[in-house]
Amino acid sequence: MTTAKITAAITAVGKYVPDYILTNKELESLVDTSDEWITTRTGIKERRILKEPEQGTSFMAIRAAKNLISKADINPEEIDMVLVATATPDMPVASTAVKTATEIGAVNAFAFDLQAACSSFLYGMSVATSYIESGRYKKVLLVGADKMSSIIDYTDRATCIIFGDGAGAVLFEPNKEGYGMQDEFLKSDGYGRDFLKIEAGGSILPPSDTTVKNKQHFVHQEGRTVFKFAVSNMADVAEKMLTRNHITKEDVDWLVPHQANKRIIEATANRIALESEKVMMNIHKYGNTTSATLPLLLADYEDQLNKGDRLIFAAFGGGFTWGASYLTWAYNSK
Ligand code: UT7
Repeated sequence: MTTAKITAAITAVGKYVPDYILTNKELESLVDTSDEWITTRTGIKERRILKEPEQGTSFMAIRAAKNLISKADINPEEIDMVLVATATPDMPVASTAVKTATEIGAVNAFAFDLQAACSSFLYGMSVATSYIESGRYKKVLLVGADKMSSIIDYTDRATCIIFGDGAGAVLFEPNKEGYGMQDEFLKSDGYGRDFLKIEAGGSILPPSDTTVKNKQHFVHQEGRTVFKFAVSNMADVAEKMLTRNHITKEDVDWLVPHQANKRIIEATANRIALESEKVMMNIHKYGNTTSATLPLLLADYEDQLNKGDRLIFAAFGGGFTWGASYLTWAYNSK
């Protein structure tokens, strides 16, 4: 007897962004930049910032998860597993996911964090879907959340204009009709480590007066190099998803690209010759929220998604880490 393969489908989404809006205009008062430069070079107009001290990434992760739970009327006690994809955990030890699971009432779940810089959510999708496909768990909550403002130097114009804070959540469940995750191609390359990193605070360079004075706890990025790798690698993997699955650009309903720079997104879309109407984009209002970009897109576009829609996800981030996945949408959202 053959048993049908279990596919892992997204069955609900949720989001949270802080109220405070950091505009390009306000950044003009912090660093030597202009609205015109930021808009043309990145596509970003504003981003959200979690201003209140003592509110960390879990504050947003909890709210995104609760938004999903209330929208989809989920009993949190049925959730088996909570993953929080994040590059900015509340603390280095005592995971953000565990706190999140407890606060949302997922008392029967186990939870852990997952970090792969801007690819954290994409990698998280791989982990979440594998647990479902194995048949071991039935409800896996994956949250992507980052308080990027906690690791940004607001005197460094190369980074402070790009990043923002936010959180998005998706629920994965088994699907009997074959919808959900179809394929993925994930990559990493340690050669990229020098180009996008936070140098201090880990085991190589523990925190000290010197590391604080040298601003080594902030994100450092060689933008031009990262840009070059992001463009070629994101485009490569997106194209691979199409060719490997024998689908054409006409078959693709949506590209769901990591929101790092509008020019990177457009280059990825151009490589697969996809019309701009099929490219999810919200970078203008949130900037780069690292682990939250992909679920925030799904939440913002949920109303436009239909059962059977073919989605191509693509992301690139520090490490380097990157990849693409192909997923079919499992429900009519309206
Ligand atoms: O999500 C994780 C992965 N991260 C990314 O994918 C980010 C990839 N990188 C980028 O998006 C872009 O490289 C940036 C947006 C960070 C920078 O844009 P760019 O077009 O690559 O600029 P650049 O670094 O090559 O700098 C061009 C010029 C320089 O001036 P000169 O040397 O030509 O006189 C910079 O000093 O623009 C200057 N510049 C700025 N000017 C005004 C750099 N940042 C700014 C700024 N405002 N904020």
